[in-house]
Parts: sequence; structure tokens; C-alpha cells
Amino acid sequence: MQEIARIAREARERMAAAETLSELDRLRVEYLGRKGAITRRLKELDALPPAQRPAAGKAVNDAKRGVQQEFERRRAALGEQVLERRMAGEKMDVTLPGRGQRAGAPHPVTRTLRRVEDLLQRAGFDIEEGPDIEDDFHNFEALNIPPLHPARAMHDTFYLDDGLLLRTHTSPVQIRVMRRARPPIHMIAPGRVYRCDFDITHSPMFHQVEGLAVDEAVSFADLKGVVTGFLRAFFEESDLPIRFRPSYFPFTEPSAEVDIRWRHGSGRHDWLEIMGCGMVHPNVLKAVGYDAGRYSGYAFGLGIERLAMLRHGIDDLRILFENDLRFCEQFSA
Ligand code: DAH
Repeated sequence: MQEIARIAREARERMAAAETLSELDRLRVEYLGRKGAITRRLKELDALPPAQRPAAGKAVNDAKRGVQQEFERRRAALGEQVLERRMAGEKMDVTLPGRGQRAGAPHPVTRTLRRVEDLLQRAGFDIEEGPDIEDDFHNFEALNIPPLHPARAMHDTFYLDDGLLLRTHTSPVQIRVMRRARPPIHMIAPGRVYRCDFDITHSPMFHQVEGLAVDEAVSFADLKGVVTGFLRAFFEESDLPIRFRPSYFPFTEPSAEVDIRWRHGSGRHDWLEIMGCGMVHPNVLKAVGYDAGRYSGYAFGLGIERLAMLRHGIDDLRILFENDLRFCEQFSA
């Protein structure tokens, strides 16, 4: 009985001194486990003379309970310590100022595109889309640009397999819409276009917006009115000088390029070409199965990067595609 008391004391002392939960658990096994020092004493009770058993049994059970209690107490204390150490390590000062979240913003090309879409939608044009990968028929043939036509040379086309190509302009969307629908048609087609060309004013991928109106008795005066109204609204200049200069496009006749009077950063004024337009060529109307005697239409096409550069005073097109945050962030207002 003295020995069991000694073992129990020793067990409690060692447990009280245990520094970690795993050390404590090793001690539990050593004393209370299946082959532990105290468990072994319990098993030895059978070997005692019956008269001694009750007293010895009580002593061993008391010892066991005491050790168990010390084990629980120490385990709770160590658990607490572990938690406290973790909390100390993970402590944070909630009064520190936050790192902040800066909101993103649409890219200047996207902003310009949306502005153009918005203004023209308000003028009654619906938005249409066409594929970036086109075929020769829609990109050239139906637009009155037959094989060997010199206008093809100006398009620097990226050709793909099977007679396909990356569209060089948004004009093919005119064909797709007219083949699908009947007049009256008032549509714009914003989108990416591709040309094999790259320098300070050319990018191999850029954006255009195409416009098309077809109905009975559509005239050049309608075209002038819409284009003039659009450009003055876009540049927020109600008396912006605009001129229509005779030009040539295979898919329009007559054709014009539109110039605006532009004040450069240096203060010098200049006429600046801003878009192409004209009356839809009868051959185009015929290619989509329209009665060219009954219907007439106008079309126009403009470059979005060009508009974005003018509106924001950007002089190198390439900066629009580099996505340098120091540049892009200037447009987050
Ligand atoms: N498709 C022409 C180009 O990419 C732009 C253009 C000019 C479109 C005149 C038109 C138009 O619809 O009438 O250079």
C-alpha cells in the first residue's frame, strides 16, 4: 500500500510537471494504460489473501482516481496554454488602417465603345454581332470586293485554312444582318477586327463600329444628319466643324470620308479624318437579295481606338494595348 501511494505521488508530480500534451499523454499510458504501473497493481489484487483485498483494492482505486484527476487537471491547463500561445501568435490590431480596395474600371477602349453604342442606340440603332472568323463571301465578295479587286490589297488580311480569314472590318456584319432580316434596318455592329499591321498608329487587332440603315427612300441627307449629330454628341461640342469629303469604298456609292476640325495639343487646327461612310452600293443590296430599285441605305464605319485617342489626347495607339496600370488608372473616374 505504501508502494502504490508512492507510485501515485510520483505519477501526479510528473504529470503536474509535464510541459506538453504529448508528454502528458505518455505519462498517462505509463501509469494508467493497459500495461501501466497502476493498472498492473490492480491486476495483482487477485493474488492477495482475501482478507487484505478490500483495503488494498481501495488503496489502488484511490491512487488511480487521484492520478486520473491530476491528468485531467493538467490536460485542461496545457490545452489552455496552447490556445493562449496560438491566440498571442495570431493577434492582430483591428484598429490599424486597412490596406484598402481600389475599384477596377473599364478600359478606355471599352469606355469609348460603350459611349458610341449608347449614343447610337439612342439614335435608334440596334446592336448586332458577327463572328471574328469570317469567310471571303461576307468579308469581301458580298461587299462588292470581288477576287483581284485592288481594295483587297489594302486590307492586310490574316488568312486561315479552308478559305476562312480574320475579319478585316465590321462591314461583313451588314451582310449577315441583311441576309437574315428585311428592311427597315437600323443596326450598329461593334467588334474586333484584324489586320496584319503594327506600328504607332496600327495594331493587328483593333475595334470598329459599323452602322447600317436600309429602308425605302433613305438618303445621303439622313446619313449626314445622323453622323453629324453623333460626332457632336460624342465630342460634346455642339458646333464642332464637320465636313464630308468625297472618297471611295467598294461597298458604298457615293462614298465619303468624314473630317472633323481638330485642335491639336500644340494649339494648331487641322482637318482630321474620323470615319468612312456612304450610300450602300446597289451591288451589295443585290448580293443579299434586296430590291435595289425599292430600297436604299447608308453605312458608316469608324475606329474606336482612334476615337479614344482623340477624346483622351493619347498620341501612341500602342499604349492602349499595353495595359500599364499607371495609364489605365487615369480612366477610373
Ligand atoms: N469597312 C471600312 C474599313 O474598315 C470602313 C467603312 C467605310 C465602313 C465606309 C462603312 C462605310 O460601312 O460605308 O476601312
